[in-house]
Amino acid sequence: MCSFFLCSYNEELLWYSGTINFGFKSKEDVNMASEKKDIILTGDRPTGPLHLGHYVGSLENRIILQEKYKQYVMLADLQALTDNAGNPAKVTNNVLQVALDYLAVGIDPQKTTCFIQSMIPQLGEITMYYLNLVTVSRLERNPTVKSEIKERGFEKSIPAGFLTYPVSQAADITFVKATLVPVGEDQKPMVEQTNEIVRAFNRTYNTDVLVEAKAIIPKVSRLSGIDGKDKMSKSLGNAIYLSDSPDDISKKVMSMYTDPDHIRVEDPGKIEGNAVFTYLDVFDSDKKKVEELKNHYKKGGLGDVKVKRYLIDVLESFLVPIRKRREEFAKDPAQVMDILFKGTKETEIVAQQTLSEIKEAMGINYKK
Ligand code: TRP
Repeated sequence: MCSFFLCSYNEELLWYSGTINFGFKSKEDVNMASEKKDIILTGDRPTGPLHLGHYVGSLENRIILQEKYKQYVMLADLQALTDNAGNPAKVTNNVLQVALDYLAVGIDPQKTTCFIQSMIPQLGEITMYYLNLVTVSRLERNPTVKSEIKERGFEKSIPAGFLTYPVSQAADITFVKATLVPVGEDQKPMVEQTNEIVRAFNRTYNTDVLVEAKAIIPKVSRLSGIDGKDKMSKSLGNAIYLSDSPDDISKKVMSMYTDPDHIRVEDPGKIEGNAVFTYLDVFDSDKKKVEELKNHYKKGGLGDVKVKRYLIDVLESFLVPIRKRREEFAKDPAQVMDILFKGTKETEIVAQQTLSEIKEAMGINYKK
């Protein structure tokens, strides 16, 4: 399966490591890095279908990384339950939807091992050992968890599972001994906290069983919503899904936030914060055309509807092959679940091995 058609349009945006010193900027760099035999693990909470923000924030990186690395992609259903305890069906039903999104964008099960978190019981056990190496106050300081607690109104009463999910995420990252974790910007604190646990474990038990990981953060790790707000997200109701129909796309683009002061066609318009241009910058490979449109819009004489129609075409040409592949895979859900079961089986062997090493290092190895 070749995913080149999906990922070639803004390659230079892909290789960026944020503040972490892992700056491969070209395919050559990736080739070099791959000789180091890095292992990749990343994942998503299956709480809804994936959207363009997920694509830009991490899916795109995974499609390229799978060519060179051993890559694990996890359906984080356990983590999804930490704030959906009362609605497990929402989580289990979305496992298939997210898996379809993976396959549709070009995550290739021949190259990437996809698995279901709750089917790896060793993860729970590893989490229990790690929990003893983390303080509650450190967990309360995790900036991503902090803002999620606010968003969910958990301030007065935080489910313990929610507060401690970064520890479970540390188990996710370390059990395959991942060295690279391609994620959106908001996940950086999780990788930092994972590395603290790795160091604490190795120090406490005088071992080198666990390895530290680096986050790979794409340059455009946060795509704004169609309302122009900072972040595209399901809960904000401002997302364009990879599985949206042409009709959805056209309605959503037509309702996009532009420049509220651009009232008549001849008025000069603003580009900054204008969602239509933000999306063109990310999804249109014809950079010259985008520049022309921007200049015309700024000068005045270019109407919103016209630019929006153009953006619909750009997004459609990106989404048509994704939609087609999704429909193909969706015809046989059992086959998709089989792909996940096969990946899970393979992953469990690794989990058992690492768990044994962890227990050995701690001296928890009772023998008859
Ligand atoms: N926290 C991630 C998210 O919300 C999902 C996730 C769970 C994850 N475990 C992981 C990501 C391990 C990277 C590595 O999207």
